[in-house]
Amino acid sequence: MGNDLHEANRLSWNAATVAHNSHKGDQAAFFRAGGSTLYPEEIGLLGDVAGLELLHLQCNSGQDSLSLARLGARVTGVDISDEAIAFATRLSEESGIAASFERSDLFEWFERAVADGRRFDRVFASYGTICWLSDLGVWARGIADVLRPGGRFAFIEFHPFAMVFDPGWKPHYDYAPKKPVAEAGVGDYVADSGTGLAIGGYQEGVVGFTNPHPSFEFNWGIADVIQALIDSGLRIERLTEYPYANGWVGFEGMRDLGDRRMAPPATMPSLPLMYSIAAAKPEGKQGARDGAAPIAIRPWRPEEGERLLAIWLAASRVGHPFLGEARLLEQQQLVRDTYLPMADNWVAAIDGQVVGFIGLIENFIGGLFVDPDIHGAGIGRALVEDAAARLGPLEVSVYADNQAAVDFYRRRGFVETARKETDDEGLPFAVIEMTRSA
Ligand SMILES: C[S@@+](CC[C@H](N)C(=O)[O-])C[C@H]1O[C@@H](n2cnc3c(N)ncnc32)[C@H](O)[C@@H]1O
Repeated sequence: MGNDLHEANRLSWNAATVAHNSHKGDQAAFFRAGGSTLYPEEIGLLGDVAGLELLHLQCNSGQDSLSLARLGARVTGVDISDEAIAFATRLSEESGIAASFERSDLFEWFERAVADGRRFDRVFASYGTICWLSDLGVWARGIADVLRPGGRFAFIEFHPFAMVFDPGWKPHYDYAPKKPVAEAGVGDYVADSGTGLAIGGYQEGVVGFTNPHPSFEFNWGIADVIQALIDSGLRIERLTEYPYANGWVGFEGMRDLGDRRMAPPATMPSLPLMYSIAAAKPEGKQGARDGAAPIAIRPWRPEEGERLLAIWLAASRVGHPFLGEARLLEQQQLVRDTYLPMADNWVAAIDGQVVGFIGLIENFIGGLFVDPDIHGAGIGRALVEDAAARLGPLEVSVYADNQAAVDFYRRRGFVETARKETDDEGLPFAVIEMTRSA
């Protein structure tokens, strides 16, 4: 999914990131000495992250990512800027704080992560992120897709109302225009904000920076953000507005209320300068489906292959963890190259979204896989009964260690006919053969 405006922004961010970091001194030393770049607002939003898998969206040079890793999270940072990711990777090595950083356009990253079945307990994005993204629907769906059920999204951002003003507080820009705004390039707002954003101490660094690469911004309004999150199925738990901006001196005469909370001059009325959102992915979608669209069962379409493979991997991780990740990835390749093309595949879809599938070889169930987020919602049962209605008697082989699957087939009237001590590839994993008459 190429995106020309995102690509233009990548070049602009590469240039600006060098200037920004030039003002921040020896950051590895700052972290080695126990430093953190997090503000109390985001720590409060995220809660205790110790031991959790945390995805940091648009992590820039990784300072917040490493601060979160220091709190015990296993952090993956994603950013489009080559310069930012190279810096973050170096900073992780030099500070001795482990985290992994991946350079990618966010939309392409989400697409791959979903196909690979990657899941996180927390997703975090902060300060100046969505204004670089051309489609909030893709953003919100990506977040919802990579969160585990019960996982949470913590988001803190500059308020779009503040973006109406020019630096002298004069209303100048439309609120939430539905089209990109071309700018001269990402500026050196770190230099403009002094110690507000150079937390370990400000250094002069690059002077008079001008960005040779233009940039394109998308100033989304509050309603755009909230609606995109609602449409993604996330449950919004809290929306907060703040009359100050953390660290950022974006306008004339701003004053520090303390703790680098920057507010408009005392002569001005109070204005919202930041907002935050806490949202959660519901635990399983059973409840959310009450009275909702029915399960539609139909033959698969080959272009749905990647979605089926993602469901296969996510469900196999839950059902067959005893095989180990390396073996599962080998098997996924086999499914891609051999089993999917040879089987008669039928998918279950809800509201147009494929949530499970069954692969049949005549009346043998070669595979039955359901998105783990929606286990227990009757998808597997619907797929089996639909196949039985068309084919009559059914047969299946199930790993004996997958007790949930064995129980599922028993409840559906399957009986055990044989047991083998090795699987089809001769590996030492017992398999139970079961059949059900028409
Ligand atoms: C203002 S910074 C975010 C700061 C961040 N909160 C931090 O911890 O430093 C915005 C970041 O978004 C990144 N970005 C812009 N467009 C992007 C895209 N399409 N995909 C991924 N990252 C993007 C930029 O490279 C930049 O690092």
